[in-house]
Amino acid sequence: MRVLVVGGGAREHALGWALNRSGAEVVVASPNVNPGLERLAKATARVDITLPGPIVDLARRERVQLAVIGPEAPLASGVTDALWKAEIPVAGPTKAAARIESSKSFCRQLLAKHRIEAQPKFDTIANVDEVESRVKAFGEPFVVKPAGLTGGKGVWVQGADFQTAEEGAAYARKLLASGAEGVVLEEKLEGEEFSQMALVTDSGVYPLPAVQDFKRALEGDLGGNTGGLGSYSQRDHLLPFLTPTLREQALDVVRKSAYALKEEGSPFRGVLYGGFILTAQGPKLLEFNARFGDPEALNVLTLYEEGDFDELLMGLATGRLDTTLLGFRLRATVVKYVVPPGYGAAPRSGGVINLDEPSIEEAGVRVFFGAVEAAGAGQVTLSTSRGVALVGEASAIHEASRRVDEALAFVKGDYYVRRDIGTKADLAKRTEHVRRLLVPGAKPSPLPLSVAPPDAPPSSAGTAEQVLAP
Ligand code: GLY
Repeated sequence: MRVLVVGGGAREHALGWALNRSGAEVVVASPNVNPGLERLAKATARVDITLPGPIVDLARRERVQLAVIGPEAPLASGVTDALWKAEIPVAGPTKAAARIESSKSFCRQLLAKHRIEAQPKFDTIANVDEVESRVKAFGEPFVVKPAGLTGGKGVWVQGADFQTAEEGAAYARKLLASGAEGVVLEEKLEGEEFSQMALVTDSGVYPLPAVQDFKRALEGDLGGNTGGLGSYSQRDHLLPFLTPTLREQALDVVRKSAYALKEEGSPFRGVLYGGFILTAQGPKLLEFNARFGDPEALNVLTLYEEGDFDELLMGLATGRLDTTLLGFRLRATVVKYVVPPGYGAAPRSGGVINLDEPSIEEAGVRVFFGAVEAAGAGQVTLSTSRGVALVGEASAIHEASRRVDEALAFVKGDYYVRRDIGTKADLAKRTEHVRRLLVPGAKPSPLPLSVAPPDAPPSSAGTAEQVLAP
């Protein structure tokens, strides 16, 4: 099969890699030259991927049989609709269905209308003159979100990105004055965030392994909000703090929301990604994305069994997914992104990184390229965005994290990486955080409860339940 991949980051490199190893020929439409995609693709075109016309021309010229869209911007600009019009199936939602991500106010109102629980208290503001009174009436602490797309970087949280209600109101006013279609205020929730993606199509909703993404720029969850510095997934496809019951509650929100879109006349075909936070009241929805997460896609695609990923995507696009193609290995994964120094605040581009790929792969770690340019043999130049993702796998999360750290010895240059992702100490901290939320009055645990021994049996429903037992 000949498949068009739209986008040029590490997520799209991982999509291209998974397609390639299924025997598919890959054609790439991207605004940048991704050295990893460049290597594996039959053809690449540098285009503005938000413009449907050039993408359809490329798809026709290259006679692709299927398209998969990585980032949110082309989904929001109607690239899916234009490809379908040209009779090219797309594993990705239409512009109307993608509003669940591209308009935060649409998403909140959709769930409210269909009485889907798990929403935080929220308010939507479209008029700059109303900001002051609405913020005053809303209550603290709160979060300010632009209603439209911001690449995950526009969300401001009280206590982290601003301190007083006046500062939050000033940010909301600034967003509206600079053309944001609206602003959403949400109550600030306490808990642990996690990503629950699912393949959604006419024949059903099929869960992917749960992932925890590390959005803050610096170790210890400090610094600004970013697209994500890395992520981990657990061998049983749960998370150290996420029991089967809690995951099922999150999946219920995903299923009901997919159904709500269908009811509204915008059926969803693609990856529906619920960004949740596990609170004392259970999982609450922070946002939906209408695509694979980045970095979450790297965890999940690394686990996909060697086989028919192209057929799986074709089933997603055409509405009838063959469930025998849903094979995700029972292994833990950890992704760590190599980013420019200052990423998340004032990133410094132009640094050259030496990357000994053969040694990294020999260490059992996979490399996916993001926003970098090839700069000679074994060298890439960093831009202001995420540069290179390293993905380790093992039977336990902390072991996968250690493998990535070892492989980082083969990455030399001026860069930043969050080494705390998936470490025993970090996992124990997160598990303890949730245990204290769910079991009020619980004494601190003396054990690093989240860390399963490397040779413990996979996927027992009891494993995660035991983690939370007082
Ligand atoms: N990891 C966050 C996102 O893909 O939006």
